[in-house]
Amino acid sequence: MAKYIVLGAQWGDEGKGKIVDLLAGHMDLVVRFQGGANAGHTVIIGDQKYIMHLIPGGIVSGKAVNIIGNGCVVDPITFAEEMDYLQKKGIEVSPEKLVISAQAHMVTPMHKYLDRVLNKKIGTTGRGIGPAYTDKIQRTGIRLESILDGSFVERFKQNAQLYSQFATQLYGEKFINVDESIEQLKAAGERIKPFINDTIEIIADFVRRDADILYEGAQGTMLDVDHGTYPFVTSSSTTIGGAYTGGGVYIDFDKRIGLVKAYTTRVGEGPFPTELNDETGERLRKLGNEFGATTGRPRRCGWLDLKLVQRAQIINGFNYISLSKLSCLSGFKTIKAAVDYNAQGEPVYEEFPGWEEEIEGITDLELLPENARRYIDFIEQYLGVPIGLVSTGPDRNHVIFKEALW
Ligand code: IMP
Repeated sequence: MAKYIVLGAQWGDEGKGKIVDLLAGHMDLVVRFQGGANAGHTVIIGDQKYIMHLIPGGIVSGKAVNIIGNGCVVDPITFAEEMDYLQKKGIEVSPEKLVISAQAHMVTPMHKYLDRVLNKKIGTTGRGIGPAYTDKIQRTGIRLESILDGSFVERFKQNAQLYSQFATQLYGEKFINVDESIEQLKAAGERIKPFINDTIEIIADFVRRDADILYEGAQGTMLDVDHGTYPFVTSSSTTIGGAYTGGGVYIDFDKRIGLVKAYTTRVGEGPFPTELNDETGERLRKLGNEFGATTGRPRRCGWLDLKLVQRAQIINGFNYISLSKLSCLSGFKTIKAAVDYNAQGEPVYEEFPGWEEEIEGITDLELLPENARRYIDFIEQYLGVPIGLVSTGPDRNHVIFKEALW
């Protein structure tokens, strides 16, 4: 039985939802270990599209037990909304299929307020992620376990009182309505209560039984609070180290899958050496439908940065690469990939002849145009890691398996 981890190698939005869903059908357990409702995982099956922000993508398959681990921050109000959304779409969300760590920290309306007034220059998703992690590290956070005995209300009141004293003066924006927030949190708390448990014991039990396990990373390596383009990062450990603290159980991962998009995108502010602020970038955005799943913001687009992906490879020890959105490169005369930076920090490119043919939906490597295959080979050689899977379109079946996944 195999243990998998799927991690984004760039700035997120590498197409993790699809591979997670492909794998989830074979898994007994799917674990999210960091982040919160800032993630945007899209799973497409036939004509049905599911967008999840907080609940692990494994919920769609219906087979796996899904865990939101202790390293996550959980907004009970968003959780209740997402549960309703999935149930309306016919997806079962029950305490048998979803367990949330009692040690995970709560995101409250106050955190969303603080995110809005404090983090403008980062361009966050506005989901209260940074402020919730700040409270955790500052030791003023509220763990979900305090929903079980109701003590979260008192703690929230204390925190809100403290912040409200300087919020309006310092930030110049009206503070939240505390009483209204308490009512919302109480109602959502009742709904989330049955899902809260000790997830470490549950994960450990699956490990003991040698089950098939998948760890589902959110965001990407370059958004990691330590390894990313600080301060333009998210507030959690999005890399493999985060899986150990945020899941809480040692796991010997057989397949450490790095998700690499065939070009690069980023949402929010921060450095992006291969960004294209021209027609080519605009074309990538259009072809790749590069608009944020969480915020709807247009994503910044540019060529593949292999130097950056190599860094992600060092950090995460990928032994299997999944290359996504190759089909969005059809029709470009020339395709570029950065292989280094010069003394001024500008990318040094390798150029590749493009291909005209539509390749959407191709499932056989031999049917790809030769230039597409050459591009794949180059990436593989540069990184020194096999590209096991190539995604050729949005549908679950639009994949080429170069190497078996299970
Ligand atoms: P936060 O995670 O909302 O604090 O946002 C911090 C930075 O991470 C911002 O630049 C966001 O746009 C980015 N970010 C957060 N989640 C995602 C994601 O799922 N995909 C891509 N970027 C993300």
